[in-house]
Amino acid sequence: MTSPRGLEPSPPSPGTTADRFSGPSFGPPDTAAEPAVDPSYVFDFAAYDDLDAPGQRWSTWLQVEPLSRGPEPRPDWVVTSQGAVDTELGILKTGKEADVFLVERADPHDPDGGVVMAAKRYRSAEHRSFHRAAAYTEGRSMKRSRDERALKRKSTWGRVVAAGEWAVSEWGALTRLWSLGLPVPYPVQIDGTEILMEWITHDGETAPRLAQTRPSPALLASYYDQLRDALALMVQAGLVHGDLSPYNILAAGDRLVLIDLPQVVDLVGNPQGFDFLMRDCANVCRWFRARGLDADEHELFGDLMAHAF
Ligand SMILES: Nc1ncnc2c1ncn2[C@@H]1O[C@H](COP(=O)(O)OP(=O)(O)OP(=O)(O)O)[C@@H](O)[C@H]1O
Ligand SMILES: [Mg+2]
Repeated sequence: MTSPRGLEPSPPSPGTTADRFSGPSFGPPDTAAEPAVDPSYVFDFAAYDDLDAPGQRWSTWLQVEPLSRGPEPRPDWVVTSQGAVDTELGILKTGKEADVFLVERADPHDPDGGVVMAAKRYRSAEHRSFHRAAAYTEGRSMKRSRDERALKRKSTWGRVVAAGEWAVSEWGALTRLWSLGLPVPYPVQIDGTEILMEWITHDGETAPRLAQTRPSPALLASYYDQLRDALALMVQAGLVHGDLSPYNILAAGDRLVLIDLPQVVDLVGNPQGFDFLMRDCANVCRWFRARGLDADEHELFGDLMAHAF
């Protein structure tokens, strides 16, 4: 594949249009004297070296369609330069259905403007354990019947569709929740089975999962308040996380961030929506109780219901 970024600026060569095409010329007439160039046709041009290092690719930002890029208003750290390069920094965590990598995106002409993102890459169906069962997808429509048939046939394409389906689903949840103001990583872009998102850190390191932390009583209480507020906002929007646990919540210092959202379910549209919500409440309350906070899932559930209707 040739890249426009690899092009070198070439001097203007009068007459080449007429040399190569026999049809009428649409360009300005050739004149002996160089006409003054309209400034609106002049643009800054920077040449980029070819990429040959392993683990590098050109930024995929402009390759994906606009709806596959993150919602507005975009955080100012998002790198949109056409000349940016993505560099693999290594694997962050292997999961049951996806692996999460760290990827740096930076324009070689502006290295300080670079950013490290988390890249969540879904595996094909045969490489993951199917713990997200059909119950999650009940009530979801699959519009493309070719895809549906492929899934049933379990063809190679079917496996790609299945992996992509979860990626698309998580992308939809991330963009929606981020736009609602929920504490989720900013979704930068989706490309097939890969989602690039904000890397959640604390002190420059990947933020620990809530399960790994031992917060002080004051911080514990603050975490619980944050969680209740986040769940209330989701329930107001008719959504349930569906796989909430202290393993799918990151603790970025004193701030909690919800992650792992491919299975987000419709509270009302899914026949088990309320069961999923109750289970989410129970999972988090159990953890808070074990850390010494008086958290009751029935009380939390009731609280959330008051927000839903
Ligand atoms: N945006 C992020 N910022 C920082 N760390 C992240 C981010 N996304 C994921 N991680 C890390 O990667 C792990 C796996 O991510 P996630 O839970 O989304 O995937 P998963 O395939 O469902 O994994 P698992 O099966 O372990 O639940 C998380 O527990 C977290 O440690
Ligand atoms: Mg997870």
